[in-house]
Amino acid sequence: MSATIINGKAIAAELRARVAAQVPAFRDATGRAPGLAVVLVGEDAASAVYVRNKGRATREAGMESIEHRLPDTTTTAELLDLVGRLNADPAVDGILVQLPLPAAVDTQAVIEAIDPDKDVDGFHPVNAGRLATGLDGLVPCTPLGCILLLRTIHPHLAGLEAVVVGRSNIVGKPMAQLLLRESCTVTVVHSRTRDAFAHIRQADIVVAAVGIPGFVPAAAIKPGATVIDVGINRTDTGLVGDVDFAAASEVAGAITPVPGGVGPMTIACLLRNTLVAAARREG
Ligand code: GUN
Repeated sequence: MSATIINGKAIAAELRARVAAQVPAFRDATGRAPGLAVVLVGEDAASAVYVRNKGRATREAGMESIEHRLPDTTTTAELLDLVGRLNADPAVDGILVQLPLPAAVDTQAVIEAIDPDKDVDGFHPVNAGRLATGLDGLVPCTPLGCILLLRTIHPHLAGLEAVVVGRSNIVGKPMAQLLLRESCTVTVVHSRTRDAFAHIRQADIVVAAVGIPGFVPAAAIKPGATVIDVGINRTDTGLVGDVDFAAASEVAGAITPVPGGVGPMTIACLLRNTLVAAARREG
């Protein structure tokens, strides 16, 4: 059996087009475009690529991209000062501080300084709390993108067994909360789980977000399961995910490729969050 390959690139392009289509009405109503501020600190090559792509996608959607590039000697106090100015700037609807920050910077303090209603990453504890308690808030982009991909395969997610592999604040934990919000039965497996594969084998839905190339083997996947691979691992042979794609696609019912699966959805959801934040601020 050969799995359906979930075309994240195409699904992301549709979402970006839907967001872009709503920008003119926002402009007409407010006299301005939604604004996304992106802050990049230091010279990390991968982060620089992500930030460039986010800026381009923001402009392509008809929104304003406000970019701040700071040296890796930037202090926590300087970053907090910038975030404070962006919080107060009426032209800024969304603020994204690209992670990881240099080791000397207090990352948590920076995240907590962002106005939760401009926190388009959804990383602020207020937004994590809103997600966990079922309140409206801004939801982390990558897990939100995973849900949108899953819905293309499963219009009704309720009652499905979902296993999330990994428990990071950026993906694993919010992913589990979003699946729970969809009424899935959710298990989170992590580095201290005694037999992760035994849990994964029960799952109708597997979301792999551990950052270990090929961590999930085909033998751990239930035949017909839907597999969402969040991993973006740079190896000698190129970009690979957390799932052994070649073998797993012979077992799964549907699977995301790397690249071209979850990755494009993250940026599309960032644009979506920026529009949502802008509309709520104006509303
Ligand atoms: N670094 C890797 N992924 C992300 C993300 O989604 N948001 C931010 N701010 N930094 C990241």
